[in-house]
Amino acid sequence: MNNKLTAAVIGCGRMGAFTRPELEYSMPKGWTPHNHAAAIKAAENIELAALSDISEEVLQAASARHNVLTIYTDYRVMLNERKLDIVTVATRTDVRPKIIKEAIAAGVKGVHAEKPLSQSVEQAKEIFDLLRSAGIAFTYGVYRRYIKVYQQAKELCESGELGELWQVSVSFGKTQLLWNLPHVADLLLYFSGAKRAEWVTGVVRFSADSNIAEGYIDDDPVVETATVMFENGVIGIINAAGGLSVKLSLTGGEITVGADGSWLEICRPNRHIRTPYYYDKQIVTSQPVKSAMQVAIEELRDQIISSITPSITFSEVIEAQRLLYAVVLSELKGGARFSVTDVPDNFIITGRTGNLFA
Ligand SMILES: NC(=O)c1ccc[n+]([C@@H]2O[C@H](COP(=O)([O-])OP(=O)(O)OC[C@H]3O[C@@H](n4cnc5c(N)ncnc54)[C@H](O)[C@@H]3O)[C@@H](O)[C@H]2O)c1
Repeated sequence: MNNKLTAAVIGCGRMGAFTRPELEYSMPKGWTPHNHAAAIKAAENIELAALSDISEEVLQAASARHNVLTIYTDYRVMLNERKLDIVTVATRTDVRPKIIKEAIAAGVKGVHAEKPLSQSVEQAKEIFDLLRSAGIAFTYGVYRRYIKVYQQAKELCESGELGELWQVSVSFGKTQLLWNLPHVADLLLYFSGAKRAEWVTGVVRFSADSNIAEGYIDDDPVVETATVMFENGVIGIINAAGGLSVKLSLTGGEITVGADGSWLEICRPNRHIRTPYYYDKQIVTSQPVKSAMQVAIEELRDQIISSITPSITFSEVIEAQRLLYAVVLSELKGGARFSVTDVPDNFIITGRTGNLFA
């Protein structure tokens, strides 16, 4: 008897079905399989039943790569013809909200969506209202939440052993708002322990072909740096430094998740002499057995079959989106503090780079 949940991927590009080889070989442990199709195939009790992409060429290649013969160039036909439990959406953001809404209408039980979810808070809220009222499970492409070493850092931070958390600093380099920073905003919220950010200041660089109008920005601008004040007094820093690390600064020590989760560094003051220096350094390396995406997909399965608590809430996704939009609105006000609650729900940032959206 086949009692596996059935799943389909919509959008079979790099994230949907083809991890770039150079990325695959260079990623730290805990990151591969990193495309939706491979992660679904690695997940227990889920069957990769169908694939969809508007490009016939991409679809044929994905079909061959993942050995899935049921393929559709029109996802609406797939949603009509197949009884799918799970849909994962790895298109770009311009079409993602519409696809998710149609998957919900078709009666799926779980949705896994890539980041960024949408181009406005309004669109995100519409999706979440539908998911909530239909009781549909949800996981999201901010994968570090699903990785053990990040969870360990959060547990240690919250244990009080190193004192009170003062600052969360995320170093992803000078990078694009909607392409990369949904991960950073999520890490800031995750570690700060705050439900809301109060205000933000930002330094942002727009592209030469950007179009900036009232309530609408057609661009995926680069954030050079930003400071966030959370409601609980924790300061968040979006750093120009690279390395994909997160540093948690506490009153009695420091915790760093380095090289995108490759290791955890815990620094404490010397136990014997009173000093402001954190001389005691401990490195913990992690040996994950499942990839972050596989964990996210298996969590979706478990949300469906046994109603477990989701790793990310709808309000966290919305708050992270508001926070990022406030960074841009701060820049438009000459770098002044921008109150995160003042981000209009219908404010659109397209996330466009050239002809493609984030
Ligand atoms: N979470 C992460 O770590 C991470 C990493 C990279 C990219 N992403 C996100 O994943 C998304 C996809 O990125 P990518 O690099 O794979 O893009 P991509 O351009 O390689 O792939 C997108 C695919 O979607 C297909 N598509 C477009 N419209 C469609 C439709 N209506 N129906 C079916 N298929 C459709 C395209 O033909 C293309 O093959 C982006 O939103 C990106 O921000 C997330």
